[in-house]
Amino acid sequence: MATPDTTSESAPADRSAPRPGSGPVLRLRDVGWTVGGATIVDSVSFDVHDGEFLAFIGPNGAGKTSLFNLVSGINPVSRGSIALDGADITREAAYARARRGLGRTFQTSSLWPGMTVADHVELAAQAAEGGSYRVWRRADGYPRQVADVLARTELAHRAGTPADVLSHGEKRKLELAVLLVGEPRLMLLDEPMAGVSAEEVPALTELIRSLHRDEGRTVLMVEHHMDVLLDLADRLAVMHHGTLLALDRPQAVMDDATVQRAYLGEGL
Ligand SMILES: Nc1ncnc2c1ncn2[C@@H]1O[C@H](COP(=O)(O)OP(=O)(O)OP(=O)(O)O)[C@@H](O)[C@H]1O
Ligand SMILES: [Mg+2]
Repeated sequence: MATPDTTSESAPADRSAPRPGSGPVLRLRDVGWTVGGATIVDSVSFDVHDGEFLAFIGPNGAGKTSLFNLVSGINPVSRGSIALDGADITREAAYARARRGLGRTFQTSSLWPGMTVADHVELAAQAAEGGSYRVWRRADGYPRQVADVLARTELAHRAGTPADVLSHGEKRKLELAVLLVGEPRLMLLDEPMAGVSAEEVPALTELIRSLHRDEGRTVLMVEHHMDVLLDLADRLAVMHHGTLLALDRPQAVMDDATVQRAYLGEGL
C-alpha cells in the first residue's frame, strides 16, 4: 500500500460502508494551494463516504490544517475541485459551506475568555438560525436547544462558568458544543485533543465517538494521539510535504514502509 487510495475503491469497514447508490459526502480532486510561491497543499484527491471517520496524521507543517482550511473555505484553492454531496463547492464561501452542513473546529482555542459556556452556545444558536431565532426559555433559564447541546457535551453543570476557568478538556468540549448547534453532517476537527491532559482524553474521545457512531456524523480529524486515532478512525490519511502519502485502513497505513520512512525521517 504505497500509493494513496484516491478513489476509495477499497472495501471500507462495515460502519463506514457507503449507502447503496449514494455518492461520497466529500470529494477532492487534485486540490492544491500555493501561497507566496510555496506549494503548501499539492494534488490531494480523496473521497469520504457518509458516516465515515477519516483521520489525518503527518509531521508538523505537512499541510493538514491548510487542507482543512481549503475544505472549509477559509482559503480558496489554487487548483483542483471540491464537491460536497455532489455539488461543486470549490468557489463557495465558508458560510455557504457551513449552511450545507460542513462544520469545523480550530487547532487553537476559539473561545471568548469571559463569556459563559451557555452564552457561547446561545450565541452560536443565534448565528446558526439568524432572524428566525426564537428564545423559549426553560425553567432553568436556558433555551431548549442550548440545554440539549450542553447535555450532549456533558457541560450542563458548567453552563454559568466563564470559558477561561474551564479545564482544557472542557474548553475542547465547548468548541464541539458550539459546532453542534449547527448540527453539521460533516465535521472537520483540527487537533481536538491539543492541550488536553491525559486524564481528560478518554472522555473527549468518547464524546467524539458518540457524535460519529450514535449521531451518524461524518468526521475528518487531525490528531497526534495515535491511540485515539487507531481507536476511532475507519481510515487513516498521511500527509507529507503537502501531499497525501497514504490513505487506507489504519493498520495498513501503520505497516506501510513509505509511511514509516517519512515518520522516522521527520523524527516524529
Ligand atoms: N497563510 C500562510 N502563508 C504562508 N505559509 C503558510 C500559511 N499557512 C500555512 N503556511 C505554511 O504551510 C505549511 C503547512 O502548515 P499547516 O499549518 O497546514 O501544517 P500542519 O500539518 O497543520 O502542521 P501542525 O501539525 O504543526 O499543525 C507550513 O510550512 C506553514 O508555515
Ligand atoms: Mg495544523
